[in-house]
Amino acid sequence: MAEPYIYVPRQLTDAAMEAVRALGHPVVAGAVGPPARDELLERAAGAAAVVCTLTERIDTEFLDAAGPGLRVVANVAVGYDNIDVTAATERGVRVTNTPGVLDGATADLAMALILAAARRVPDGDRLLRDRTPWVWGPRMMLGLDLSAGATLGVVGFGRIGRAVARRAKAFDMEILATPTRSEVSAEDRVGVTFLDLPELLERSDVVTVHVPLNDTTRNLIDATALRRMKPTAILINTARGGIVDEKALVEALHAGTIAGAGLDVFVGEPNVAPDLLDAPNTVLTPHIGSAGTATRERMCALAVRNAAAVLAGDNPPTPVN
Ligand code: GLV
Repeated sequence: MAEPYIYVPRQLTDAAMEAVRALGHPVVAGAVGPPARDELLERAAGAAAVVCTLTERIDTEFLDAAGPGLRVVANVAVGYDNIDVTAATERGVRVTNTPGVLDGATADLAMALILAAARRVPDGDRLLRDRTPWVWGPRMMLGLDLSAGATLGVVGFGRIGRAVARRAKAFDMEILATPTRSEVSAEDRVGVTFLDLPELLERSDVVTVHVPLNDTTRNLIDATALRRMKPTAILINTARGGIVDEKALVEALHAGTIAGAGLDVFVGEPNVAPDLLDAPNTVLTPHIGSAGTATRERMCALAVRNAAAVLAGDNPPTPVN
């Protein structure tokens, strides 16, 4: 295609697809599901803007395939570990993400996993669906009482971590958080004790992870970290699979080093390690942290605004580089 165009490898929401078309450039759009790698590279050649999702790997191969006309990669996600930002920057390509519009939805899902794992919701659901005979009993299906002074350890006290902490306060949980460089309002600091990771892990009944995946956070929660947790504690991950050493987590769950886990993200997505599927006291969801209808509209709209701004020669609202 001679004229520079906008490449959208996967269908966004209807409103966002309309907004892309309204920008007045030719649009090449893929299907609902992710394109095969060959198709991705082929269709990128000659694009001026790419509005992609976290399932597209934007690396040097992709950037080279796109060619020198590429001006912006607008990711429909707050996390951008799928993008080689250094390589993009070297080629003068702007990279943008969608921070701020998915904090509530992701924090809601983290709370859902905390509640489900603590109070054994999937175990109970399975018991009934399996037609297992049961009767109410003083010892039946006991779980962790969040409101009886349980402590939540927030690893990464950024926007999403703070949104989880606000929700957990309503459940009467004590809040610990790792120190942060981001600006925290006086209100969000109330009732929060800041501790380094090792001590936070030792003192928490629930540990919830909210850091981005990068070279400094890969396998942050490794076997040593898991050993620091209480044997009654639960690990929640709605950030990125690679932040937790999955093999070590499976071992910890089977050995009873920790009591359970709630996971929305996995190392080899969309594959989930079979050992994880068989792990006890584990609640699993398929990376749906931001999958609220209104949230996805906001994410897609922001990504399109970012692409539009760069194409118009302006600064994008939420740049990464
Ligand atoms: C979703 O995982 C995101 O990073 O927005």
